Amino acid sequence: MNVRFDPGARLRGHIAPPADKSISHRAAIVGAMASEPVRVTNYLDAADTRSTLQAVRDLGAIVEARPDELLIRGVGMRNAMAPEGAIDVGNAGTLMRLLPGWLAFQQGAAFTLDGDDSIRRRPVDRIAGPLREMGARVDAREDRFAPFTVHGESLRGIDYELPVASAQVKACVLLAGLATDRTSVREPIATRDHTERMLLAAGAQVGREALPGGGYVSSVGNCDELQIERIAVPADMSSAAFLIAAGVLVPGSRLVLDGVGVNWTRTGFLAIAQRMGAVVIGELEASGAFGAAEPVCDLDVSYGPIEATTVGADEVPLAIDELPLVALLGCFAEGETIVRGAGELRVKESDRIATVVDGLHGLGADIEAFDDGFAVRGTGGLRGGRLEAHGDHRLALLGAVAGVASREGVDVIGMEAADVSYPGFIDDLASLSA
Ligand code: S3P
Repeated sequence: MNVRFDPGARLRGHIAPPADKSISHRAAIVGAMASEPVRVTNYLDAADTRSTLQAVRDLGAIVEARPDELLIRGVGMRNAMAPEGAIDVGNAGTLMRLLPGWLAFQQGAAFTLDGDDSIRRRPVDRIAGPLREMGARVDAREDRFAPFTVHGESLRGIDYELPVASAQVKACVLLAGLATDRTSVREPIATRDHTERMLLAAGAQVGREALPGGGYVSSVGNCDELQIERIAVPADMSSAAFLIAAGVLVPGSRLVLDGVGVNWTRTGFLAIAQRMGAVVIGELEASGAFGAAEPVCDLDVSYGPIEATTVGADEVPLAIDELPLVALLGCFAEGETIVRGAGELRVKESDRIATVVDGLHGLGADIEAFDDGFAVRGTGGLRGGRLEAHGDHRLALLGAVAGVASREGVDVIGMEAADVSYPGFIDDLASLSA
């Protein structure tokens, strides 16, 4: 589906962005692991998170869609039922990396996971390595790609140091760690901690500490039962970020985004945008905070001039999915915006360094790629043109925002990709520009 986004009228009003994708995936998985029913409100209704609901159904959970909530009747920690065929993760990397953590301790059972073409290009050796250290067997195509099979075993605890800052890998190891005496994951740079918060809320023993030399360590202890009555999913900062960028870039805009999750491990984009001069006001969580709750607030965004900034490795995990938008802001900012230490972008739904740099270059941006990031020189705006989404939801949404902020508009080729995280984006944009 090709969609044209014309230079926009100012964006005004307020809107609730879609529910958080990361927290929704985790709610479905934790719900399936729980022994008592779990009520989930505001579960994200999008392709990626529907894949997770189907996956947990395949494993024996019962998911009831009620008018205002999902009711998940789980199978308990150790009773996942092996389905006959492969579990289809669709396009969802988070599902593919998290679920094996649980499956790895379903003793005597084997589970095969597979997904779409993009998922088959994304590495799983990063989870296979620690799961094997814990005692599970994982057989993957070429030892690192889907389809792959997880054979459940009795697991031993490990102290794992993440070679790359990845919340997905951390979450996988922590889920598996629930079946060990004690397991810890040390991360060189803080990554999103939704898994730790949800497990804590579900009664697991969870530790999270800042390390003196930088970074964090998260740990879990042996857990027989997870119990959590209700999980309320906040609006997704990563989806909100597209509307925030549109509000900052389209002259005359002033919008409020309702109920956005502002866990500090997700608000890196706001810090970067504010440093660039963007006016985004809200009650954010203090850096370093930890607890069972996921904080939310309304974000008040106004149009205004922006200037360039530099983003380094320590900020990257806190804004990983929003870095394409930093590139877009950079096109409009005064000076040169540089992002480094973001090599992980190359293994997202597309190679997001290549697709963002080529995509924005095609719209008139003065941008160059590095192995681990990009530099963009602001030229006061963007001409417009055509941007190919490459089946990547964040590319499709980037093209849409680039279009409304551009001089001539943007045709997004493959806009349907946006549906994995933000199905109603076109309608939301229209309602804000009405
Ligand atoms: C996610 C973690 C990030 C992010 C992805 C969702 C999660 O991936 O890019 O969209 O829910 O844990 P990595 O942890 O692999 O960087």
